[in-house]
Amino acid sequence: MSARVDVPDTSDARPEIDVAPPSGVGHASAKAILFGEHAVVFGEPAIAVPVRSLTASVRLHRTDGSARLDSALYHGPLHTAPLRLDVTTTALHAVLDHLGEPGAAVAMTIESTIPVERGLGSSAAVSAAIVHAALDAWRTTADDETIHELIQVSERRAHGSPSGLDARAVRATGPLWFQRGAVAGLEVATPLHLVIADSGVRGRTREAVQGVADRREADAATIDALIGALGGLSVAARDDLARGDLPRIGAGMSEAHRLLVELGVGDPALDHLARAAAGAGALGAKLTGGGRGGCVLALATDADHATAIAAHLRGAGASAVWTTTVEATT
Ligand code: PMV
Repeated sequence: MSARVDVPDTSDARPEIDVAPPSGVGHASAKAILFGEHAVVFGEPAIAVPVRSLTASVRLHRTDGSARLDSALYHGPLHTAPLRLDVTTTALHAVLDHLGEPGAAVAMTIESTIPVERGLGSSAAVSAAIVHAALDAWRTTADDETIHELIQVSERRAHGSPSGLDARAVRATGPLWFQRGAVAGLEVATPLHLVIADSGVRGRTREAVQGVADRREADAATIDALIGALGGLSVAARDDLARGDLPRIGAGMSEAHRLLVELGVGDPALDHLARAAAGAGALGAKLTGGGRGGCVLALATDADHATAIAAHLRGAGASAVWTTTVEATT
C-alpha cells in the first residue's frame, strides 16, 4: 500500500543556485541588430533579435560584510572595481536607489558568455541581469517600463544617449520592431538562420555614434539621406519577414552594410568578413551594432548552410563565430 505524500507546489520555486538567502538571480541574452542601427538614434525604425545562446547571469546576495564583485574581469571589493566596470556598478547603484536601499552592501557574481564591445549588447545584458537579480533578492518586482529605465541609466553611462534598443532587445523573447522608444513584436514566416562572426576588433559604439552626429553637423543632407535609406530598409524587411522572403531580407542586409560604411561606421575587418560570408553563399551580410569593429551578421538559407558559413568565416579569420535561429512566429 502506498501512502499519499503531499508534494509542495514548486512551479514557481527559485532557481537552484548555491547562495545564502536573501539572494537573487537575473539573466538576459545577447542581441543582434538585423536592421536600423545608427538610424534608430534619429527616430528611424530598427529590427533586433535576441541571441539566446549567449547569456549574462548575475547572482547577488545582501551581505553584512562589504560590497564585493566577482566577474571574469575583476574579483574584489566593489569600491575598487576598475573604471571599465563603471557600467556594472552604475546598474547596481541605480537598482539599489530604486529599492530605497542606496547604501545596501551586496556581493555580486557576474557570469557572461557575451563578448564585450562587439555590438552584441553585453553592457545592456549585464545591466538587465543585475536589475533582475536585485529585484529578486529584495523579493519584489517592477513593471516593464521601470526595469527598462533602470537599464537605461547604465546604458547612458556606456553610450551617452542610447536609443533604448539594446535595453529592450536583451530582455526580448523574439524579434523586435523598435522606434522612438516603443517596441512591437514582428511576424516571421520562415525561420532565419543567422551567423554572427567576431572580427576581433573592439567595437566603438560611443565614438561611432558621435562620428555620425559630427558628420551630420557638417553635411546634414547626405547623412539624413543615408539615415532615411537605412530606416527604409527596416520598413521593407518587416514585410519581407512577414512573407518569409529570405533572398530579399539578405539583399537588404548587404545594402544596409554598404550604407553603414558610407555613414562612416565600417571597418576593413568587417568588410572582409561580409565578403567572406558572400563567398560562402550567404543571402546577405552586414555589420551589426555600433560598428567600427565588432561583428558581422550573415543570413543562411538553412541550418546546415549556417554551419558551413560559420566554418568558412572561421577560416577567413573570424576570432569567434556563433549561429542563432530566429524561429517563425506563425
Ligand atoms: O553596439 P551596440 O550593440 O551597443 O548597438 C548600438 C546601436 C546604435 O544604434 C548604434 C546605438 C543606439 O543607441 O541604438
